[in-house]
Amino acid sequence: MTLQEKLLEVKELKTYFMTNRGVTRSVDGVSFTIEHGEVLGIVGESGSGKSVTSYSVMGLVDEPGEIVGGEILFEGKDLTKISKKELKKLQGNSISMIFQEPVTSLNPLLKIGYQISENIILHQSMNKRMAKQKSIEMLKKVGIARANELYNAYPHELSGGMRQRVMIAIALSCNPKLLIADEPTTALDVTIQAQILSLMKNLRMDINTSVMIISHDLGVIAELADRVLVMYAGQVIEEGNVFDLFKSPKHPYTLGLINSTPKITDTKELLDSIPGTVPGPSEMPTGCRFHPRCKFAMKKCVNHEPFLQKLSSGSKVRCWLHEEKEVNIVDESE
Ligand SMILES: Nc1ncnc2c1ncn2[C@@H]1O[C@H](COP(=O)(O)OP(=O)(O)OP(=O)(O)O)[C@@H](O)[C@H]1O
Ligand code: SF4
Ligand SMILES: [Mg+2]
Repeated sequence: MTLQEKLLEVKELKTYFMTNRGVTRSVDGVSFTIEHGEVLGIVGESGSGKSVTSYSVMGLVDEPGEIVGGEILFEGKDLTKISKKELKKLQGNSISMIFQEPVTSLNPLLKIGYQISENIILHQSMNKRMAKQKSIEMLKKVGIARANELYNAYPHELSGGMRQRVMIAIALSCNPKLLIADEPTTALDVTIQAQILSLMKNLRMDINTSVMIISHDLGVIAELADRVLVMYAGQVIEEGNVFDLFKSPKHPYTLGLINSTPKITDTKELLDSIPGTVPGPSEMPTGCRFHPRCKFAMKKCVNHEPFLQKLSSGSKVRCWLHEEKEVNIVDESE
């Protein structure tokens, strides 16, 4: 494999849930890539399909969900087509995941050290002694000072921030090529959040892991990501490098997300929130899925679904405003 080759290439992924109320198109034709060592951020409101995208890549979609279309190429191998056994080998080895809630991800009955060592032994050819050594090394790496002592602690003896560090240690203990972090800091308080983010930044430098970080918090994304994917109602509606996306968002939804995020310099008491909510499966609008909430909506938007087009800047946007030429959208209510 050459280094230029993309680590992950997701093409037209469709993951649907077949419920008795109908079919939920949670991920509906999503495409993106992650390069070696790159951090891709995924943002979007609740219900936009961020977690289902990450679960699909990890092979964790269960009934009533199903990947009904598309490809997930990891180092060129389609994960939707490989056997369960092969997939299991990749999970926790080449691809690791950190979930939102560390309390539910650690086994409360087993000591921390055992849980890390067990993962190392499962995925690498190491004996118990070597695995213990590596576990302690990993605990130190994620900033746990009394690593030798904490190796023998149970999860309930640790704070939420510490438990999340342990989860990161487990996720990184096999030097994964790809780390998927789904809202890794949401359950933590702000100071611990900042520590965990800076930790993830350092570790990425350290072992050149590619990261897919999911958050509804634009601050977290701005801090960590190189490139950002904005999702809405199961689709990618904008993609660009982190600097361009925050400086000059092209999609009205991205602009809305940015305007509804508090900034330190904000003097306004009320932030502009986007009116309405992400549409549910039975109320998917015709045309542009965002049109009932969009203040720029035109006649065309009601019946014609925009495609994801590439702009000269290299960004991508799914919006008719940019059909003929790239424009800078300005929110006049500002
Ligand atoms: N097990 C399931 N059964 C039925 N529908 C599901 C299931 N899991 C997810 N969905 C639906 O898929 C859609 C996308 O959900 P997803 O969890 O990916 O959203 P999200 O962007 O991660 O939101 P959040 O920010 O709240 O985590 C939602 O409409 C959700 O109801
Ligand atoms: S296509 Fe139309 S409705 Fe959709 S975001 Fe663009 S302007 Fe708004
Ligand atoms: Mg989620």
